[in-house]
Amino acid sequence: MNRRTVRINVGKGYDVYIENGILSHCGELFKKSAGNTRAAIITDSNVANLYLEKVASSLKNEDIPVESFVFEAGEKSKNINTLTSILEFLAENRLTKADTVVALGGGVTGDLAGFAASVYFRGINLIQMPTTLLSAVDSSVGGKTAVNLSSGKNLAGTFKQPKAVICDPETLLTLPDGEFRNGKAEVIKYGILFSKELFDGFADGAKGKDIGETIESCVAFKGKTVENDEFDSGERKLLNLGHTVGHSIEKCSNFTVPHGFAVAAGIAIVARAGEKIGITQNGTAKAIENVLENNGLPIDSEFSVKDLVSAALSDKKRDGDKITLVIPQKIGKCILKDLSVNDLEDFIDKGKKY
Ligand code: NAD
Ligand code: GLY
Repeated sequence: MNRRTVRINVGKGYDVYIENGILSHCGELFKKSAGNTRAAIITDSNVANLYLEKVASSLKNEDIPVESFVFEAGEKSKNINTLTSILEFLAENRLTKADTVVALGGGVTGDLAGFAASVYFRGINLIQMPTTLLSAVDSSVGGKTAVNLSSGKNLAGTFKQPKAVICDPETLLTLPDGEFRNGKAEVIKYGILFSKELFDGFADGAKGKDIGETIESCVAFKGKTVENDEFDSGERKLLNLGHTVGHSIEKCSNFTVPHGFAVAAGIAIVARAGEKIGITQNGTAKAIENVLENNGLPIDSEFSVKDLVSAALSDKKRDGDKITLVIPQKIGKCILKDLSVNDLEDFIDKGKKY
């Protein structure tokens, strides 16, 4: 067994277990973290075909009663209707306050199942089992949950820390290449925020020697940030690097551009604009563009500045007439900068290439 464990000291604290093949014996860790409770596995149609049976068998081997709910894969399902269906499913199956929701899948599953676990009976146990690179390095840790509304991305949500995160890097072997690249955008984001070494490790676009080690580093960076600012009132906002423009791109594309791709373009736009206003060290934007492009990620968006700004005005990072942006100073160091919404158009315009 080659298990990596990262402790997240938020609330009562929880462990993130990272180990190849861990899903085959996740029942033991479920019991250790949530006790002798029933499990409601929430998953999407793709992940259900690949991993539902494995997880359900391991839970049943530990005498844990299992129910499962499968929704149609994709960002379009991350809405209030799917959330309602999950809540109705929990109630129909008489899950109690003592029981546990298992989020088995990517960030869409984690956000929906986490939301449901946080409001059903005003909160029941949650265990995250991420199966995409993006959810392994980011969304399964830290407790944010959300659904999209027609006005924009993640506009309704809660904070719900899990009891444990059980991450099996072997699941990434079935991930389509585009989905793997989608997750790399978040890894590169951590590099720009916290670690030139992590950033440089992805410079040539290779998959990385040991993805378990990469996941461990990212989770540790995120864990420290969330420990210092669980509810996103300061330091945690740094994790939104590339997200203001990224969310606008997602919304303008009617959620057909995946989150990581949108964030990648958002990071590059902010870095170019940051150089033009003198916050970002010269050459940083080019270094970011190179790494993103080498990893098959976009560095700009086809949507017009006006459309991006209009979408950003309903972003939840807006606070009255200002919006907080994350701007790189150099690789490994970013700052928060409040911008008046009136100046946002000019700022994004400075960062657009085409
Ligand atoms: P996703 O959950 O839609 O997964 C992407 C695709 O991969 C889906 O089609 C899914 O069925 C498929 N898939 C998942 N695991 C697989 C596997 N092992 N093998 C084959 N296919 C697999 O999307 P995502 O990229 O994981 O997450 C994006 C979502 O996460 C966005 O909605 C974003 O807003 C959210 N997010 C949330 C947080 C947070 O802190 N809560 C942070 C970052 C992103
Ligand atoms: N993904 C950003 C956060 O968790 O704060």
